[in-house]
Amino acid sequence: MITTTGLTKVYRSRGREVTALDGVDLHVREGEVYGVIGQSGAGKSSLIRCVNLLERPTSGTVTVAGQDLTALVGRGPRAGRELRQARSRIGMVFQHFNLLSSRTVQDNVELPLEILGASGKARSRKALQLLDLVGLSDKAKAYPAQLSGGQKQRVGIARALAGDPKVLLSDEATSALDPETTRSILQLLRDLNRQLGLTVLLITHEMDVVKTVCDSAALMNNGRIVESGTVSELLATPGSELASALFPVSGDASGDDRTVIDVTFHGESATRPVISQLSRTYNIDISILGAAMDTVAGRQVGRMRIELPGRYEENVVPIGFLREQGLQIDIQDDRPVLVKEGAK
Ligand SMILES: Nc1ncnc2c1ncn2[C@@H]1O[C@H](COP(=O)(O)OP(=O)(O)OP(=O)(O)O)[C@@H](O)[C@H]1O
Ligand SMILES: [Mg+2]
Repeated sequence: MITTTGLTKVYRSRGREVTALDGVDLHVREGEVYGVIGQSGAGKSSLIRCVNLLERPTSGTVTVAGQDLTALVGRGPRAGRELRQARSRIGMVFQHFNLLSSRTVQDNVELPLEILGASGKARSRKALQLLDLVGLSDKAKAYPAQLSGGQKQRVGIARALAGDPKVLLSDEATSALDPETTRSILQLLRDLNRQLGLTVLLITHEMDVVKTVCDSAALMNNGRIVESGTVSELLATPGSELASALFPVSGDASGDDRTVIDVTFHGESATRPVISQLSRTYNIDISILGAAMDTVAGRQVGRMRIELPGRYEENVVPIGFLREQGLQIDIQDDRPVLVKEGAK
């Protein structure tokens, strides 16, 4: 649904150059909620602004719903019109809502429809329908200043949906909100994704957001995507930074003569009693040092840090047993790499 290839953005200001995007290949499938996470300055906002051509990419291509938007940039009035039309099918939600304070809630939602040239009657019908969808039908005549942060963001979302977009882009839509309001806005985005089949690309720096609503995620660093995949793929990737940030576990070995391993449960393996099977089959006592279990996209996933008696060499067979059960195993070991198991 959204594909970028070799997307590069170099900002030039006062003789200085900043490479905000450095060859980004992004692929967001139709109907999924895709989260991009990364530290401040990683290039997240630049990416989203290049996807809807608010910002002109320095090089590379952006394709949304099968249309190459980059091919339309600067190609005369006809291409300009096509670009505007294509952009009206991409909704955008902002961190600070960007509502016009002199306009009522309804008039804010109608704004993109005015730009598209819809008649007054059609505009107001659509705006009221959208306000109902986001749970704000009673606030149509209110002004933004009379609303809470969460309500303002609902208006922002209703406005973003005015052009019947196939794609919704959200740049830190919840980072100005308290945790409870954040949850309700995320739930709304999830509902819209399901009800309208909307593809959502959202930028965040909060892991919880990814955990709550995303089907897939990418980690950005220095203008590049360094990891990406569905949440279950990430969990199944040895050493994935995103997976360990999503499900952080901690805990140290209780002595030298111990083996500490991180077990990642995902898919079917999450529901089988593997730890007690392991204990019974090999007659060993297992200590749980830390755990993080959660439901992601309706499936139970999580990690557990466990400790087995004896050194790694003595636990090769039980660890093999866990792997056979389809679990992802990462050995936590600070001894030299030679005795440490490599990736998989
Ligand atoms: N208009 C601009 N002119 C010059 N440099 C810019 C501009 N916009 C962004 N940058 C630079 O590009 C880099 C990436 O910025 P970007 O805003 O995309 O990061 P971000 O990941 O969204 O960060 P944050 O989490 O703080 O919002 C930064 O080094 C930033 O200073
Ligand atoms: Mg940003």
